[in-house]
Amino acid sequence: MKIGIISGSHRKKSQSRKVADFMAGRMIQMGQEIKPWLLDLAEANFPMWDEGVWSGEEKWKKIWSPIAQELSSCDGFVVISPEWSGMATPALKNFFLLASSRELGHKPGLIVTVSSGMGGSFPVNEIRTSGYKNTRICYLPEHLVIRNVEKLLNVVHDTDVTPDDQYIRGRIDYAIRLLAEYAKGLKMVRDSGQVDHKTYPNGM
Ligand SMILES: Cc1cc2nc3c(=O)[nH]c(=O)nc-3n(C[C@H](O)[C@H](O)[C@H](O)COP(=O)(O)O)c2cc1C
Repeated sequence: MKIGIISGSHRKKSQSRKVADFMAGRMIQMGQEIKPWLLDLAEANFPMWDEGVWSGEEKWKKIWSPIAQELSSCDGFVVISPEWSGMATPALKNFFLLASSRELGHKPGLIVTVSSGMGGSFPVNEIRTSGYKNTRICYLPEHLVIRNVEKLLNVVHDTDVTPDDQYIRGRIDYAIRLLAEYAKGLKMVRDSGQVDHKTYPNGM
């Protein structure tokens, strides 16, 4: 099973990327045969969407085709965003303009937000209520809010970590296990023959 991890911060060496790396490591260590694939939007540095995406401009084909191929082969996603001014990041919103149901449709998405303080709930709400209409990504009812992120997940091993760190590590493992089960379940939906994006390319 392949899980795409989208790190939504466009800051270099971001906390979101730290969380993404940690989760990718856990996916491998947990022995559930999950192969993570990481997309760091700071490294990808996609241009802002323009009409050339829809008209199939060569520039966009070059940028997006290799990403689309990777995303299409994923069975589910982790969508990570920091809270910036109470919002999800512009790079993540841009990602949801570039991506389509061909890559994300009817696949589970685990929302993960990070905050250096006690925030993180606003982007959960924002991601949960946007971005899915046309892409048809299916967000899990479970999500993760990683508060005080700078103090957490800084070491790989889980001995000698604070109770808060221990708690979030357990919660991350739980969310990954759930995501894997949703990925198995939603494959049946995609394989059912009932998905019709030709007739209904966009959600209502
Ligand atoms: C432009 C900007 C706005 C921010 N606004 C908030 C906010 O509204 N709430 C919050 O909890 N943290 C806020 N923070 C702090 C971030 O939670 C913190 O910097 C976080 O680690 C950034 O994640 P990143 O390293 O993945 O970019 C903000 C940070 C930046 C750079």
